Amino acid sequence: MGKPTDSNVLETVPSLENERARQYDFIQKARIYVNALEKQLSHKPLCFVQTFGCQMNARDSEKLAGILLQIGYEMTDAEEDADFVIYNTCTVRDNANQRVYGRLGYLGSMKKKKPHLKIALCGCMMQEQAVIDKIRKSYRFVDLIFGTHNIFKFAELIVTMFENGKSNGGMIVDIWQETDQIVEDLPISRKYPYKSGINIMFGCNNFCSYCIVPYVRGRERSRKPEEILAEIEKLAADGVVEIMLLGQNVNSYGKNLETPITFAQLLQEIEKIEGIRRIRFMTSHPKDLSDELINVMKNSQKICRHLHLPLQSGSDAILKQMNRRYTKADYLALVEKIKTAMPDIAITTDIIVGFPGETTKDVEETIDVVRKVQYDNAFTFIYSKRTGTPAAAMDNQVPEELVKENFDKLLRIVQDTAKERALLLQGQVMEALVEDLNEQDPSLVTGRLSNNMLVHFKGDASYIGKLMKVSLDGCHGFYYTGHRLDE
Ligand code: SAH
Ligand code: SF4
Ligand code: F3S
Repeated sequence: MGKPTDSNVLETVPSLENERARQYDFIQKARIYVNALEKQLSHKPLCFVQTFGCQMNARDSEKLAGILLQIGYEMTDAEEDADFVIYNTCTVRDNANQRVYGRLGYLGSMKKKKPHLKIALCGCMMQEQAVIDKIRKSYRFVDLIFGTHNIFKFAELIVTMFENGKSNGGMIVDIWQETDQIVEDLPISRKYPYKSGINIMFGCNNFCSYCIVPYVRGRERSRKPEEILAEIEKLAADGVVEIMLLGQNVNSYGKNLETPITFAQLLQEIEKIEGIRRIRFMTSHPKDLSDELINVMKNSQKICRHLHLPLQSGSDAILKQMNRRYTKADYLALVEKIKTAMPDIAITTDIIVGFPGETTKDVEETIDVVRKVQYDNAFTFIYSKRTGTPAAAMDNQVPEELVKENFDKLLRIVQDTAKERALLLQGQVMEALVEDLNEQDPSLVTGRLSNNMLVHFKGDASYIGKLMKVSLDGCHGFYYTGHRLDE
């Protein structure tokens, strides 16, 4: 059960059964405050939500937007016009934190000009005590702070924020250290009408030694399959054709449920839902990727031909220090198995450079894996020391210059192999889901292929959300230009 850790908040820790109903009551209450604000401003109050970080946070922001719209706010893309600004933060690397602090300075000056402006901070970064201390000290103008475990309380917290603001103008801080609650069926406002992320699990139990996620997102919890399937059925009825199942390690889905179910079994159930044309998922930990999953993917008509399979390092010594629980040979054997089953699959990855003790020889091992696997795309990150993780206490941190040198070398190779892979599809015809008008040239649309690459081709807004056959005429590294084929 989650517990508020701050005295400045409501002390109620509600029971799960009543929680959804309680939150709907708070939505009603919040409406009264937002209505009053609307009268005062003579326009609908505007809200700006900025998402930092991963797909989990993007989905959480859709939950925030769902509540905000229900209580009477309108969303805006222009931060300077907003009456309520919310930053949904990430802390996976230090630069994510620095970006938030940078923007907070600007928000402070905005609030001076517009005193009724409300500012809320939430997400992973807020789960760190040092961050809360710093905000209390240096950014006292922030109105509301909450974390990853109690996002379902957003309407309740908004009510507290308005009430508190009236009485003493203090900052509301409500951070839970842990929770086993999953409150279902609260409002969500999707960013895209035709595609959607869906949480299938929360938290992570892997404790990779460099990673802060298990500390800020808590222990692994799976949603019940019936809840997930009901949500997807609703989405399909609402016109969604592509779904992305979200979890830090989707391959361990279902293990902690009363009636255990595997991720592969869940996929088979989802496959049956009419209207859903494409299924994606993120992320797969190599140690847990089962033969059952490979088999289900291979026989599926809907699961996209894309697997994100984070490598992190190709060196056995570093993998061990990272607590990844596979070796270079295990990883390569797994990729071989996947490619044998599905020769057309695109494999992408994450790689960290500069983990404590990493030598140039270790980086050579990583490069060797990149050459052998031939990734379709790879996200390379410079190691960032996260306070409280085991790796932060390791004393053999790598000098910055060497990290930079190794990083640049790896990046060049990663880009070259990705370009080679992309060229292989030039001239082929593939199905694309049209996502948007092209930003630079609105006579073009942008579509996403099953393998997650993008293609730009002539079209208009009526194409958005549709699956279309497209010829991939030109390859430009990370995207294609093409033309639609007549039906
Ligand atoms: N659960 C997912 C993703 C977690 S975070 C997974 O395991 O794949 C996304 C990526 O950020 C990780 O794959 C890793 O490459 C990177 N990352 C995490 N912690 C980091 C750190 N301290 N420094 C640099 N990169 C990090
Ligand atoms: Fe972090 Fe590892 Fe969990 Fe991914 S699997 S979130 S890298 S601890
Ligand atoms: Fe960042 Fe939290 Fe995601 S730390 S990467 S937003 S889980």
